[in-house]
Amino acid sequence: MPNIIILGTQWGDEGKGKIVDLLTENADCIIRYQGGHNAGHTLVVGQEKFVLHLIPAGILHPDKTCVIGNGIALDPQALMEEIDNLEKRGIEVGQNLKISEACHLILPYHRAIDKESEELKGTRRIGTTGRGIGPAYVDKMARIGIRTGDLAHPKIFREKLSKNLQEMNYLMEKLFKSHGFDLETLYREVMTLGERILPFVTDTSQFLWEQNRKGSSLLFEGAQGTLLDIDHGTYPFVTSSNATAGGALTGSGVGPTLIDQVLGVTKAYTTRVGSGPLPTELTGSEGEYLREKGQEYGATTGRPRRCGWFDAVCVRYSARINGLSGLILTKIDVLDKLDSIRICTGYRIGSRTVEEFPRHVEDVEAAQPIYEDVPGWQQPTRGAKRWEDLPKEAQAYVQKIEEYAGVPVIMISTGSERSETITIQNPFPASA
Ligand code: IMP
Repeated sequence: MPNIIILGTQWGDEGKGKIVDLLTENADCIIRYQGGHNAGHTLVVGQEKFVLHLIPAGILHPDKTCVIGNGIALDPQALMEEIDNLEKRGIEVGQNLKISEACHLILPYHRAIDKESEELKGTRRIGTTGRGIGPAYVDKMARIGIRTGDLAHPKIFREKLSKNLQEMNYLMEKLFKSHGFDLETLYREVMTLGERILPFVTDTSQFLWEQNRKGSSLLFEGAQGTLLDIDHGTYPFVTSSNATAGGALTGSGVGPTLIDQVLGVTKAYTTRVGSGPLPTELTGSEGEYLREKGQEYGATTGRPRRCGWFDAVCVRYSARINGLSGLILTKIDVLDKLDSIRICTGYRIGSRTVEEFPRHVEDVEAAQPIYEDVPGWQQPTRGAKRWEDLPKEAQAYVQKIEEYAGVPVIMISTGSERSETITIQNPFPASA
């Protein structure tokens, strides 16, 4: 059975949750490998809507195993809240969830530092979700992070916490002129949560290795998107993890030769939350139209998403960085009523014309999109289930995207329900 990475090709919010939920039917293990509860994956099942932040979208399927890999920054409180909420709604979370012992913990001081350092950045603020993601990864890289496995060793945990608090409280009090954190209170709080978390904690890399040897299919669920990747995104306006394909490997402890496909989820237009350049952004009524039609409000923070035309430069770049084998196009129905649609095929930067996504954020900030206009279809596509059901202009739009990205579109999502999907090529051949 194939092992597949699903990730975002734009700035996140491409609709990965629905796709992962749909493909989960054919997979055995669903793995989150980077980011944390900054992500918000919305799933609609019948009349019910679920928003997941940390737990893989596969959790709605009781016979699948969900894995939180070592690349995740894990907030113990957010995790327990999510588990409690799911259980309240009748979704069982027990042996079907496994958490790596090497996840770095997001602790309350990370959240506080995230907010304070954003304030300090002034007009160059990143517009983070305020969840403490960046500061937790800073500790990881500074080699002072505290990991889920440490929760099993109260003495070690306490020593690390005590040492870190000296530094964090200095920052909080002296630089940010705010209040610090009390060791005893924090220790008790986290250990209490830790007792509930420890039963889920295991060596997930080993677990996935064994599952793979048994012939199980692994589905890697990316969060955020390629242009928010710490290395390949619009740095510094990015998140603090590798949202690109490489992150699935380092963030789960699974080797590259085990991966069969890398699928990129792409919205039929572009959105972004937070600060940073968005070359095809529509600030007027057209942007407002896309936002309202597409209900483009952040699943985690509720912030309105910035909206713009489809940017083929960005998706072609994603295809290269991730080695995409297929694209999954979402929200095409949002464009149904438009008489004309624009695709950005290149940028003008000063006197230069470029077709490759620029490395430097200043160039992306200066980029003026070059558009190709294509006719709209002005017919409903919502709920379409077969390629033949799409109007010919919509088919032509999909084909243009394939052409510019250089990658085939293998699925098209035409609504939020599982059934509202066109499958051109099932990535799980056995069940095709
Ligand atoms: P952080 O991940 O909270 O540090 O935020 C860094 C940047 O990534 C901000 O621009 C956020 O809006 C953006 N971001 C983080 N998570 C998501 C997501 O799940 N979808 C879209 N944008 C996100």
